[in-house]
Amino acid sequence: MLHAAPIAVPGSPHVIVVGNEKGGSGKTTIAMHVAVALLQQGQRVGTIDLDSNQKGLTRYIENRRIWANYRRIELAAPLHRDIPRAEGKRLEDNEAEELAAFEAAIASVSESVDFLVIDTPSTDTYLMRLAHLIADTLLTPLTDSFLDFGTLGAIDPITCEITAMGHYGAMVCEARRHRRQFDRSQIDWVVIRNRSSLSRLVERSLGQLGGRLGFRHLEGCAERVVYRQFFTSGLTALDPLDQATLGDRANRSHQAAQQETRDLIELLRLPINDRARRRAAARAEWFASANAPLAADDVLAD
Ligand SMILES: Nc1ncnc2c1ncn2[C@@H]1O[C@H](COP(=O)(O)OP(=O)(O)O)[C@@H](O)[C@H]1O
Ligand SMILES: [Mg+2]
Repeated sequence: MLHAAPIAVPGSPHVIVVGNEKGGSGKTTIAMHVAVALLQQGQRVGTIDLDSNQKGLTRYIENRRIWANYRRIELAAPLHRDIPRAEGKRLEDNEAEELAAFEAAIASVSESVDFLVIDTPSTDTYLMRLAHLIADTLLTPLTDSFLDFGTLGAIDPITCEITAMGHYGAMVCEARRHRRQFDRSQIDWVVIRNRSSLSRLVERSLGQLGGRLGFRHLEGCAERVVYRQFFTSGLTALDPLDQATLGDRANRSHQAAQQETRDLIELLRLPINDRARRRAAARAEWFASANAPLAADDVLAD
């Protein structure tokens, strides 16, 4: 059962939920990349990890802090909260306890952030459903395989036509219906092809299903080993991939990952606050020039 009314999000940050019932599709990786992309554009970002078993996003952010200390560099990090799993005997008590923890986490960050990125588990849990109800943008990473496609829809093996809605697809549609009734908001649902091998068949079927379920789909990231390596250092493809940060020289795979991630963020069309973006750009320029040797023009200027 879905909650009767979405819980209130005080301060009204833009809520980005990353969800799919398929594990390993790249939810945590995408959540971290989106959070870092927004921080780099001067936005204030909060993150919530609802995957109380894996705690992938929590560990990713913790690794980032450890890596920054180790390399003696500054790495911007979001204001993070994780929700511990309630371990009581009664399901209703556990749900009530987790709901209270989730509401408290939202309340503790949302007054001070512009964006809230919520990473969800791959299982259908009460909080995972609730998160989908409060999403303004829903990102669903999907690997390039018809097996994984099943969470969204079933496909006829001969014609590749869509024959039925998948469990996760149906859950999102219900969440959207609820949300529309509650405050007439539209959730921008974006399916992102991740670990992609550019399969045309999957692309065609996604196009069909997107028309029926109301999502847009984007080309995300190719399968690249660098994404797995980023986790241990808490880095993303959007960080400066130089000797100081990476501890190594960026290779072609790093550069390709950086480009495709930048393209993806652009295509998400998130409501980025332009003043904050300009402030961040000016700050980055100032830092860069503070480290650079003075040019002759600067020295001779009146
Ligand atoms: N584009 C990619 N290429 C290669 N490996 C990836 C890619 N995206 C994610 N991974 C790796 O796949 C695994 C699962 O990703 P993760 O983000 O944890 O998925 P989820 O949160 O959906 O379970 C992790 O080891 C991650 O580093
Ligand atoms: Mg995860």
